[in-house]
Amino acid sequence: MKIAIIGLGFVGLSLTSVLSAKGENVLGIDVDTNKCKNIQKGVSPFFEPELEKLLKIGLKKKLKISTNFSLTKDSDMVFVTVGTPQRSNGSIELSMIKNAVKTIGKVLITNKKNPIIFIKSTVTPGTMQNIILPILEKESGKKAGKDFGLISNPEFLQESTAIKDTKFPHVVVLGGYETVFIKKAKNFFMKLHPNVPIIITNHQTAEMIKYANNSFLATKISFINQLSNICQKIPGANVDDIAKTIGLDPRIGKLFLNAGPGYGGSCLPKDMKALINFANISGINPTLLNAVEEINTKQLEQIILITKRKLGDLKSKRITILGTAFKPDTDDIRDSIGIELIKKLLKRKAKITIHDPKAIENTKMIFEDKINYAKTIGDALSKSQCAIIMTQWREYSKINNKIIEKMDTKIIIDSRRILVDKNIDADYHAIGIGNNK
Ligand code: UGA
Repeated sequence: MKIAIIGLGFVGLSLTSVLSAKGENVLGIDVDTNKCKNIQKGVSPFFEPELEKLLKIGLKKKLKISTNFSLTKDSDMVFVTVGTPQRSNGSIELSMIKNAVKTIGKVLITNKKNPIIFIKSTVTPGTMQNIILPILEKESGKKAGKDFGLISNPEFLQESTAIKDTKFPHVVVLGGYETVFIKKAKNFFMKLHPNVPIIITNHQTAEMIKYANNSFLATKISFINQLSNICQKIPGANVDDIAKTIGLDPRIGKLFLNAGPGYGGSCLPKDMKALINFANISGINPTLLNAVEEINTKQLEQIILITKRKLGDLKSKRITILGTAFKPDTDDIRDSIGIELIKKLLKRKAKITIHDPKAIENTKMIFEDKINYAKTIGDALSKSQCAIIMTQWREYSKINNKIIEKMDTKIIIDSRRILVDKNIDADYHAIGIGNNK
């Protein structure tokens, strides 16, 4: 069986690596020539644990990487995993996916195999029915459900655990018409992921499931962030003990209750905005979703307020930001709250030094010489007047009184409560802990 994967970002390249390492005949396609050249050499364009290892195994087996879509002409399955970035009004930009399916449609003309096309990209409800399906039928002159299959197959992997999540998903969603193609797809996924629930539904429900999933996760985070703000006003209260305890109630669940500086990354903020925009267009006032977003934005403002309270005017103050990646074990800084914080502090003319174990190079692309970059945590803290921990990297839990010795003024704002139990000899403020100095 020949499998083509279109778009080699986090989702596409993880799927490519996992399937090809298993020995499947995989063709990875991307429009970016440079990216393809590197991937062909076994080099991933981004850091993701375990990915390069599997990619290299795949390349030694049957994996081929190319920019040439026409190579998909004898594919049995085509997975579309291109990005659907955000427009300024919150809606999603469909040009990339439209171009990809146009080309796939043209190649479909000569494909005699009646392939199944899976859309993994996140698209708002109705996009399959109203946009993708008509493009494919028009370009190919073929009929969906008869000459080729078209299935909505949303993805739930998380960056930093992308390989594990691709190998062991918690669910597989197949959205489409009940045809032989759905049966074939079900068999494929049952073999690939035995014992994983497979939900078969229509396109629009599958599209909505993806938004429901991400917006619920965002809601959990904003909920605990709001509680953490209340906790800060209660002397002695600890948001982590509260999260741990309510998380034991199976109706609540323990995950995504880690209070912090707000959710970032390339997915939750974008999907929340797209769903809010979609609800508004549909005539529904998304009161809850708007509140979730508002809490998220205010969370960062709160960190700036605390910083101002501790330092006064921020002009020329030397502030260290520990962590610019949007979460640990990734070098991804897209929609990172740490990056947002730096932008806001620079506007107030603070002098910024940053440290991040993986994301320095990506951060340099944004700020160039406007900020300083430190290789070690010690260097980052040297002469600093205030350190703000933004990303929950394991390295930061090793910070101790010796490492902070060279700080000019020992003020630490810990947005992830990494140092709560460390007896740090500093003016220490942890988000979500009441009765701080
Ligand atoms: C998210 C979803 O978790 C995935 O299921 C989904 O497939 C993916 O988006 C996507 O749509 O592609 P991801 O963007 O990799 O995955 O990141 P998350 O692990 O969800 O973290 C998002 C943000 O929330 C980060 O800034 C993180 O620090 C923050 N977060 C997460 C918290 O502040 N507290 C938590 O308890 C959990």
